[in-house]
Amino acid sequence: MKVPFLDLKRQYLKLKAEIDSAVQEVVEASAFSGGPYVENFEKAFARHTETKFSAGLGSGTDALHLAMRAIGVGEGDEVILPVNTFIATAWAVSYVNATPVFVDCEPGTWSIDPAKIEERITKRTKAIIGVHLFGKPFDVDKVKDIADGYGLKLIEDCAQAQGARYNGRRVGSIGEIGCFSFYPGKNLGAWGEAGGVATNDAGYDSAIKALRNHGSKEKYYHETLGFNMRMDGIQGAVLGVKIKYLDGWNQRRRELSARYRCGVTNPKIRMQSCPGGYESVYHLFVVTSDDRDGLKKYLDGKGIQTLIHYPLPIHLQKAYSHLGYRAGDFPVAEALSAGCLSLPMFPELTDEEAGYVIEALNNY
Ligand SMILES: Cc1ncc(COP(=O)(O)O)c(C=O)c1O
Repeated sequence: MKVPFLDLKRQYLKLKAEIDSAVQEVVEASAFSGGPYVENFEKAFARHTETKFSAGLGSGTDALHLAMRAIGVGEGDEVILPVNTFIATAWAVSYVNATPVFVDCEPGTWSIDPAKIEERITKRTKAIIGVHLFGKPFDVDKVKDIADGYGLKLIEDCAQAQGARYNGRRVGSIGEIGCFSFYPGKNLGAWGEAGGVATNDAGYDSAIKALRNHGSKEKYYHETLGFNMRMDGIQGAVLGVKIKYLDGWNQRRRELSARYRCGVTNPKIRMQSCPGGYESVYHLFVVTSDDRDGLKKYLDGKGIQTLIHYPLPIHLQKAYSHLGYRAGDFPVAEALSAGCLSLPMFPELTDEEAGYVIEALNNY
């Protein structure tokens, strides 16, 4: 049997008629950049995220970047973030000439370790970006308490966690701004690059809507330096169809994860812990093993495709060598990078395929 890591075609075939006709509508209306299909999606997304406002953008990276600008992070400022995340979380800080300040993760949940944040706060710290990595919320209450205590803004990187809940609240609705990616492989994925923000603050919403549109609220009048980071109409239409299915897809991801969690009994395989109150949407199902490369090769031989998220933590990336970090600075994240392996995980994965992966892992 061959088990793909992700097969987007299966999802497309299920929605083909509905999604093809939504795209055709955009073409007929020539509503290619921003416009009504993006606005409709923004309304649906704000409802889903349980926030007052949402803005469609070109990517999740744009969302984080514009969030930094909206909350006023700039040259000389510092922003705290977990070191085990996709690098775009850090790019956002660098784009505004501020310095990313990294924090290690907790050994069990692999989320930013709240106990290690305060020691990294200085007079220059402006904000904390928490990341709901792999679909599992970070400990938002603890991190928010620290942020509030020091007068810092909290930004949520929800790129991997559309629809997740923390103690009943949707991620992206708790900090100042929630930043989302709709990259095709995400739980809610577009047909190309797309992203967006959600917020309860009208000021942040209107600032981001101007920034994405050349710093303009009125056509050809520009109040600030701006960007072209609008969402495409086609992406708005595709996402507008898909958002209706997101909760069902996330439920299926949770079912598959429960199968993996209960079925895999091999002590050589360890999993991310997910305490009560955290409703993960399992964007990725990541395990760790002492011989990760051996495990990957073994699964490959059985026709099971896996990926590594992520092979090198940000502080050891060449792009950030100027910050002067060394191997050993963040031992938990470094061990995770060395041991992690992402298993096949997408809503259309069949029970039979998941069973085959479980059996292979138990025989390893
Ligand atoms: C945690 C995290 N943050 C930010 C991003 C950036 O999103 P995009 O690829 O849409 O720019 C991603 C995308 O993979 C991500 O996983």
